[in-house]
Amino acid sequence: MDSEQTIPDDALNPITSSEDFSISPIAGEIIINASKVNKYFGDKHVLRDVDFEVHKREVVALIGPSGSGKSTLIRCFNGLEKHTSGEIYIQGQKLDPHSSNKQLAPIRRELGMVFQNFNLFPHMTVLQNVIEAPLLVRKMHKDQAVALGEKLLAKVGLAEKRDAYPNRLSGGQKQRVAIARALAMQPQALLFDEPTSSLDPELVGEVLKVMRDEMQFARDVSDRVVFISDGVIVEQGDPEEIFKQPKHERTKLFLERVLSVLP
Ligand SMILES: Nc1ncnc2c1ncn2[C@@H]1O[C@H](COP(=O)(O)OP(=O)(O)OP(=O)(O)O)[C@@H](O)[C@H]1O
Ligand SMILES: [Mg+2]
Repeated sequence: MDSEQTIPDDALNPITSSEDFSISPIAGEIIINASKVNKYFGDKHVLRDVDFEVHKREVVALIGPSGSGKSTLIRCFNGLEKHTSGEIYIQGQKLDPHSSNKQLAPIRRELGMVFQNFNLFPHMTVLQNVIEAPLLVRKMHKDQAVALGEKLLAKVGLAEKRDAYPNRLSGGQKQRVAIARALAMQPQALLFDEPTSSLDPELVGEVLKVMRDEMQFARDVSDRVVFISDGVIVEQGDPEEIFKQPKHERTKLFLERVLSVLP
């Protein structure tokens, strides 16, 4: 475990100095570099020759139909899932699919991941959820962690939910808390797994509205959106462009289904 650690000034800059949410990618510094990644579950080919790069401080949202491989790809990056072939480098270090949890711990600490189920602690308030890891893992001082937590909650529009418990939050609000919590660890980069497509397709109305809001949120907070379908990155780029002018038919169809269900 690290000894008493102070947070470098530049790590705080994106949060304190930037008006928008984005943590401003630094061109050139590559945090994740994956090439020709394949993943099979049995004979099911789930990721197909995926090439993927994430730059320092980039916020990347993965979107795509249910079962397309989004969660599996993210899980491969932090070693929760073992890729079948291809190479993954994290901060220049080759990820060995057979590494131990102990070897993977530093990677998991540096890569921010927001998963679909958010994993918020039910017995902790929103603020406590956000500051838990900075206190325990980063050894941040309490005052500093609280200040950072409040700032991040304000960024995701949840300042007033500071003392609420997760069971009182909507799915979209939980996701925002999860994003604030991931950012509080001042990760090298942040990947988030869009929860939209995992919702029960039988549900309509309010749920679709929430889905649309969440897609809007992905667009607002991300530097880049990556659309995955059938284990292939179909297209990726600037969120505005992908959402407004998708180039590929499959992206268009997916976005139409998710975004234009409501007037
Ligand atoms: N542990 C596993 N064993 C076998 N098959 C799996 C396993 N995990 C995922 N799969 C399969 O791999 C495919 C990709 O799953 P994945 O969870 O990555 O999809 P996803 O894009 O995250 O979908 P969703 O939007 O529903 O979360 C699916 O067909 C899924 O059933
Ligand atoms: Mg998933």
